[in-house]
Amino acid sequence: MDGNGRWAQQRGQARTSGHRKGVEAVRQAVKSAGELGIKYLTLFAFSSENWRRPEDEVNDLMNLLKFFVRRDLAELHRENVRVRVIGDRKTLKPDILALLTEAEELTRENGALELIIAFNYGGRDDITRAARLLAMRAARGEIAPENIDEDMIGDAMDTSGVPDPDLVIRTSGEQRISNFLIWQAAYAEFVFLPCLWPDFDRSEFEEALRQFSSRNRRFGAVAEQDLALGS
Ligand code: FPP
Repeated sequence: MDGNGRWAQQRGQARTSGHRKGVEAVRQAVKSAGELGIKYLTLFAFSSENWRRPEDEVNDLMNLLKFFVRRDLAELHRENVRVRVIGDRKTLKPDILALLTEAEELTRENGALELIIAFNYGGRDDITRAARLLAMRAARGEIAPENIDEDMIGDAMDTSGVPDPDLVIRTSGEQRISNFLIWQAAYAEFVFLPCLWPDFDRSEFEEALRQFSSRNRRFGAVAEQDLALGS
């Protein structure tokens, strides 16, 4: 969800007003995802690197997440959305942790759309914590190190049970992965849109899906039509 700061700067406003507008785009994106039949939507709301931002901005992002959960949780629940949070919970303040846990508990049985909020999330951190978990289990004799495979690593990660993403969308014209789902997005298609996140609406979402549907996904194999041609 990149470009909140630039959106605000273009209007001579403080960066925080860009984030506020960004929350409205979040609401729209969740609604659009549901209407478009998407089953899993992961939003990168706060990265483990975002702590390096000025304290005011960090506080503002924390408050916006709290505001979003307090204001929107009941409606998300009504819309049968399941909320799940990925990221390192250990360094989150107790009030945020309690709210996020409440959202997860309340919506646990919902099945229309899974909304995964990546908060205090970093792909390398996710892999590191999974490695630590498996190493501890090995040290306790619960698993044999030589049996560790990709499925075990995937199961030890925050996204355990969630299918790998088919599509990763980044707004604002930047063309980087920035530590987002780096393990899980190994075979994802990437769509980079020039629009800033606060301007991401239903038509931008559809544009990303249009680009996605024109891609030829091979997952390391050979396309079927090439096999048929014997090439
Ligand atoms: C990136 O734009 C955006 C963020 C770091 C924060 C995204 C957070 C929200 C939209 C609000 C809270 C989230 C939820 C799920 C309610 P940037 O600040 O890096 O923009 P810039 O690159 O233009 O400076």
